[in-house]
Amino acid sequence: MDLPDLPSPELPDAAPGIRPRTFDEYIGQETVLAGLKISIEAALIREECLDHVLLHGPPGLGKTTLAGLIAGAMGVPFLTTSGPVLEKGGDLVGILSRLAPRTVLFVDEIHRLPRPVEEVLYGAMEDFAIDVVFDRGPAARTFRHVLPPFTLVGATTRAGLLSAPLRDRFGIFQDLDFYRPDELVRILLRSASVLGFFLPEEAALEIGCRSRGTPRIANRLLRRVRDYAQVKAGGEVTRNLVLEALTVEGIDDLGLNRIDRKVLHTIGTVYNGGPVGVDALAATLQIEVDTIIDVVEPYLLKEGLLARTPSGRRLTEFGLKRISGTLFQENRF
Ligand code: ADE
Repeated sequence: MDLPDLPSPELPDAAPGIRPRTFDEYIGQETVLAGLKISIEAALIREECLDHVLLHGPPGLGKTTLAGLIAGAMGVPFLTTSGPVLEKGGDLVGILSRLAPRTVLFVDEIHRLPRPVEEVLYGAMEDFAIDVVFDRGPAARTFRHVLPPFTLVGATTRAGLLSAPLRDRFGIFQDLDFYRPDELVRILLRSASVLGFFLPEEAALEIGCRSRGTPRIANRLLRRVRDYAQVKAGGEVTRNLVLEALTVEGIDDLGLNRIDRKVLHTIGTVYNGGPVGVDALAATLQIEVDTIIDVVEPYLLKEGLLARTPSGRRLTEFGLKRISGTLFQENRF
């Protein structure tokens, strides 16, 4: 049976048309897609809601897009919210009690749900019901509010921060990984065609290799390259123009940006190569700890520039080599 390829609703912050609107348009993450498609097809055959899904991976890899595609393939409404937005249990009750049956409810940054909200979610996920307590002490009464069936799709950059009871209520768990350069090339060629300009393949490869394995970054750099080409080259994008534009953006040949380099240099200079605890590093750099953990270090770890040890982060030999040529130069960033 083929999945119905209904377009997913337009998502907030999407550039018009750039986000894939069906599974067929989605490039990469084959294992994740294969697993999701089986579960969706089975749920459609049984005419049931899809099991709750937890999507895990670094930012910018397409978790929100996938959630929208799941809703599109199931042919159900799609609603999005996020962990930090839901402050009180009542905020979630308000959303859940108004859901159209079978809605896909997407909760971004689900590891940041406050505990009382999480506790409302347990019953909602397991029994499609919420127990509302009136009064306190001996007079306390409980009213069971039955909810329409729904699918929760949670996204997290840090599955380890989810409490065990919440984690255990997800039936489907998918891990997204960084994209390969050839996948990013395909994404960039598609995006350029949607945006309406010609991108030669060798130019796409230069952008793809410098995008930290991340489509969101690739598409952002693509727009900067397009700006640069418009101003400097009458709109014509070439490989050399990409190199110039990305140098202006502060992106180096490994795709590292100024913050990545600053992190590596600080560990190298201030902390003698490490190990250094992430709190001390964040304080020195005046960056949020969460930004280092969620945004900066996953790619540095993947590229083998940084290692995590029980006593903190340290530069690898490759990391040391990478910064050694520039250690004593001022204003490198
Ligand atoms: N744009 C952003 N991510 C994408 C993906 N995985 N496939 C196609 N286009 C994209």
